Amino acid sequence: MSRLQAEHLYKVFGRRPDQAVQKLENGTDREELRADGTTAAVIDASFTVEPGQIFVVMGLSGSGKSTLLRMLNGLLEPTAGRVLFDDQDLTALSPRELRDVRSAKISMVFQHFALFPHRSVLENAAYGLEVQGVPREAREERAAHALELTGLAGWEKSWPDELSGGMQQRVGLARALATDADLLLMDESFSALDPLIRRDMQDQLLELQKRLKKTIVFITHDLNEAMRLGDRIAVMRDGRIVQQGTAEDILVRPANDYVASFIQDVDRSRVLTAGSIMEAPEKGRSHKDLVAEAPATVTAETPVAELFTPCSTSGVAVAVTDSDGGLIGVVPRTRLLAALGEEPQIDEVPAAATGSRDTKKVIASA
Ligand SMILES: Nc1ncnc2c1ncn2[C@@H]1O[C@H](COP(=O)(O)OP(=O)(O)OP(=O)(O)O)[C@@H](O)[C@H]1O
Ligand SMILES: [Mg+2]
Repeated sequence: MSRLQAEHLYKVFGRRPDQAVQKLENGTDREELRADGTTAAVIDASFTVEPGQIFVVMGLSGSGKSTLLRMLNGLLEPTAGRVLFDDQDLTALSPRELRDVRSAKISMVFQHFALFPHRSVLENAAYGLEVQGVPREAREERAAHALELTGLAGWEKSWPDELSGGMQQRVGLARALATDADLLLMDESFSALDPLIRRDMQDQLLELQKRLKKTIVFITHDLNEAMRLGDRIAVMRDGRIVQQGTAEDILVRPANDYVASFIQDVDRSRVLTAGSIMEAPEKGRSHKDLVAEAPATVTAETPVAELFTPCSTSGVAVAVTDSDGGLIGVVPRTRLLAALGEEPQIDEVPAAATGSRDTKKVIASA
């Protein structure tokens, strides 16, 4: 069962939103609607997020990311479509039921955290629990644990302004984790941080996620961040999702020129894995021989960036093995170098195949 499901979500701001949805369904252009003051912020968005997944929504400013996120927790009512959370239709709940679901099961983490300046770090982290009516002792215990998870043990009694931006962001993350919400909605949560601190936070989130296995929807305008964090990524443009897939899908098979223009800045060696570039072991030679020739072994999930060292110490190739040590493929040195230089392929096919009217190119069947 999917944890979260968006079904044909639309959000239109302005006059006669229902009519605007009909027009969009009939093929009217978003720009045409804008001419009479109507903004189609999200157009026909559908996706599912599985339990324990990080689903990243990536797109430029104004593409509709925050609007989409606010519909997922019921802060904004969709103009059309449904949001299912644990098979419960959020769009059908009363305001009170919705508030209950939101406070018990969903946490938001924003770019700029509204930390309360006159409350300690601990009280800030406990805020969500306070709203839920959890008694002081219990909430402080849980908040302290959450602060420990985010690397802030020892800072409980400090004031927010004694903390760096990165640490303040950790307090916000701790606040979200303290409530035990299963669903974390993170809107550009790391975007205001310096690059190195941002990377630290990404690592920390991945580390926490291994243990806590939350379901996370993470918004970013940075494709590198999307690819580091996302189990799946949806790329938005002008209100529409123009491509969904794994980082590798998007890197190797961008759906159109727009997506392709982002991937130029992506570090391919961190996204591609040994499993995606390996070759089948040569015919006629026993697996044992090959492993003997390629003593360095990696798993299919090892990023290409981590193959260079083993490849330089290994004879001809790196062996890729499964969890039982069985050989499933090899990465010869030449293959390793070639993989980094390969151009993604985009071929002309009818626009309808992409779900986006203005998209003229998508990859032919991959
Ligand atoms: N309450 C509103 N009323 C009218 N228009 C809105 C409203 N909220 C958002 N919009 C419009 O909807 C579009 C999508 O906005 P949204 O904030 O979802 O984009 P975003 O992808 O989150 O952008 P950013 O990266 O800048 O945060 C924009 O054109 C915005 O102006
Ligand atoms: Mg936004």
